[in-house]
Amino acid sequence: MQKVTGIAVTDPSMLAAAHAVSVPALAFEDVTCTFVSSDDRAARYTAVADTTLRIAPGEFVSVVGPTGCGKSTLLNLAAGLLQPSAGTVRVFGEPLDGLNRRAGYMFQAEALMPWRSALDNVIAGLQFRGVIADEAVQRGQEWLARVGLQGFGDRYPHELSGGMRKRVALAQTLILDPDIILMDEPFSALDIQTRQLMENEVLALWSAQKKAVLFITHDLDEAIGMSDRVVVLSAGPATHPIGEFAIDLPRPRDVAEIRTDPRFVELHAQIWAVLRDEVLKGYQQQKRAV
Ligand SMILES: Nc1ncnc2c1ncn2[C@@H]1O[C@H](COP(=O)(O)OP(=O)(O)OP(=O)(O)O)[C@@H](O)[C@H]1O
Ligand SMILES: [Mg+2]
Repeated sequence: MQKVTGIAVTDPSMLAAAHAVSVPALAFEDVTCTFVSSDDRAARYTAVADTTLRIAPGEFVSVVGPTGCGKSTLLNLAAGLLQPSAGTVRVFGEPLDGLNRRAGYMFQAEALMPWRSALDNVIAGLQFRGVIADEAVQRGQEWLARVGLQGFGDRYPHELSGGMRKRVALAQTLILDPDIILMDEPFSALDIQTRQLMENEVLALWSAQKKAVLFITHDLDEAIGMSDRVVVLSAGPATHPIGEFAIDLPRPRDVAEIRTDPRFVELHAQIWAVLRDEVLKGYQQQKRAV
């Protein structure tokens, strides 16, 4: 696996954090995930194989890989929605058994409840946890304001723009104050300007209260702009990490502006050199499957 080493970390707080924290917030230890067909038990597909990946508390890690390679599978394993066929997923050192209660999940697909208003969507998780109504509503209003949707609490999802719906989903995830945030291409359906605004908002919220983030994307610019580390996955089947790159760009970052930084351009070229062949392989496989 390709690793970029010898990068000078100049921020002493980053160094201290890296040394003080030895237990990863989230760890995949030699994880394999094989799907067995329900029609034919002999038909199997190994989506993820022998994957080891550790994310420190407060670290923002992006995973990039070609379409269909197994990114969502990896996230579902971290969320506890899927069980590994081999290996272990650990959460703050403990083997994950059942749903990952310390993680909040932003799905790839739109996941708001259409029959609930924006506010009721935001506070759904609090209600499921039995938080009393007044407190839930107050916290919900605070979170709506934090994601720029003050005054939109009464609107239903179909009355909101795509970007607004993503903001509601973000508030819905963050209101539960998870120690780990799992995000599966959350902004891929948005236009580029809205997307960059949302990316900057996520970075601002994250830097205020650093959580471990596993961010899945197929967009390399997005991965580099947002992350502390970018992990490249191979094309499937048996997807696994084939490259890992420390992103030594200064923070705070503006995801639009950082793209012109010479170091960004350099990192982009290095990572793309690893990713390009996998994207081509993934594309050929999809063409064969049609
Ligand atoms: N429940 C399942 N049963 C059988 N195969 C599955 C299941 N879930 C995913 N797969 C297969 O595993 C592979 C990886 O799927 P996954 O959704 O993780 O890819 P992805 O990298 O997230 O793709 P995309 O970039 O399109 O979102 C695909 O070939 C998919 O068909
Ligand atoms: Mg996916």
